[in-house]
Amino acid sequence: VHNPVLLNEVISLLDPQPGKFIIDGTADGGGHAEEILKRISPQGTLLALDWDEHMVRRLRLKLGIQNHDCRVVLRAENYACLAEVMKNEKLPKADGLILDLGFSSEQVENSGRGFSFLKDEPLYMVYDPEHRPVKTILKELTEIELADVIYKFSGERYSRRIAKAIKERIRKEPIETSGELAKIIRRTVPGAYERGRINPATRTFQALRIYANDELGNLQKIMKDLPKLIAKGGRVAVISFHSLEDKIVKEAFKELSQKKVEVLTKKPLIPSRSEIIKNPRSRSAKLRAVRFL
Ligand SMILES: C[S@@+](CC[C@H](N)C(=O)[O-])C[C@H]1O[C@@H](n2cnc3c(N)ncnc32)[C@H](O)[C@@H]1O
Repeated sequence: VHNPVLLNEVISLLDPQPGKFIIDGTADGGGHAEEILKRISPQGTLLALDWDEHMVRRLRLKLGIQNHDCRVVLRAENYACLAEVMKNEKLPKADGLILDLGFSSEQVENSGRGFSFLKDEPLYMVYDPEHRPVKTILKELTEIELADVIYKFSGERYSRRIAKAIKERIRKEPIETSGELAKIIRRTVPGAYERGRINPATRTFQALRIYANDELGNLQKIMKDLPKLIAKGGRVAVISFHSLEDKIVKEAFKELSQKKVEVLTKKPLIPSRSEIIKNPRSRSAKLRAVRFL
C-alpha cells in the first residue's frame, strides 16, 4: 500500500481548486498527484515530473486507466529543470507546486539499483539511470574527498575510517554492490551503533545518495527559480526528510518572505503519531509552505 506523506496537510496548504494548474515535481507513485487531480478537475492541468523514468512509466499506466477530465503532462525530468520543461510545454506560471523530496519506498524495495543497504544490488543509487553511479564515484574520489562527502551529507562520525576502508578495498577489487559496501562499513565500525537502532551503513548510504544525485544542489536551484515558476496567489509545499534539506527550504522561504511571499507554516508541520505508526518512513518528514501574494 502506498501512503503519501502528510497528504491532508499538503492538500490543505496547496488548496488545489477546479481548473487550476498544479505541478508535482516528485511524482513517484502519484500519491499526492492523484489527490490533486481529483481537486483540480474539471479542466485543471497537472504537470508531474519524476527524475526516475521507471516511476513516470508506472504513473502513466496508473493515471491512464482513470477517467479524468484534466490535462496531464508527465515527464521524466529533474525538477531543477522545471523552468525549461514549462517553457517547452508552453505552460504558464503555476498555481501550486509540491515537492516530496528524496527517494521512495518503491525505489528502495524494487528498483534493483542499490538504494538499500539491506539488499545486495548493483551499486547505482541514482534516480536517472544515465547518471554517474555510486560505484564509479567511489573509485573516482580520493580518500579525503570521500570522507568529506560522507561527513558533510550525513554527519557520520566515522567518515574517515569508512573512507579509508572503502579505498583500501577498491585498491584490491572494485565494490560492485550495495551488499558489499554495507559489509565493509559494518566491518569498519564494529559495535559502533550496537545500542542504537540505526544500521551502521545508514548515514554513509544517505550521504552517497545525496552526493551522487546532487540532491541539495537541485533543491537550491528550484528554490531560487520559484518566482519564475509560480503565479500570483500560487502556493508551494515542500516535504523534506533531513535537516540539510529542511534548512535550505526554511532559508529560501525566509528570504522570499521579504518579497511578496507569505510563509504559511511558521513552524514545519510534522506527521501525527498515528501516521508514523502506519507509515514509519514519514517519521522524519517536515512540511513547509508559502503563498505568493
Ligand atoms: C518521496 S518520493 C515522492 C512520493 C510521491 N509524492 C507520492 O506520494 O507518491 C520522491 C520521488 O522524487 C523523485 N526525485 C528525486 N529527486 C528528483 C529530482 N531532482 N527531480 C525529479 N524527481 C526527483 C524520486 O525519483 C522519487 O520517485
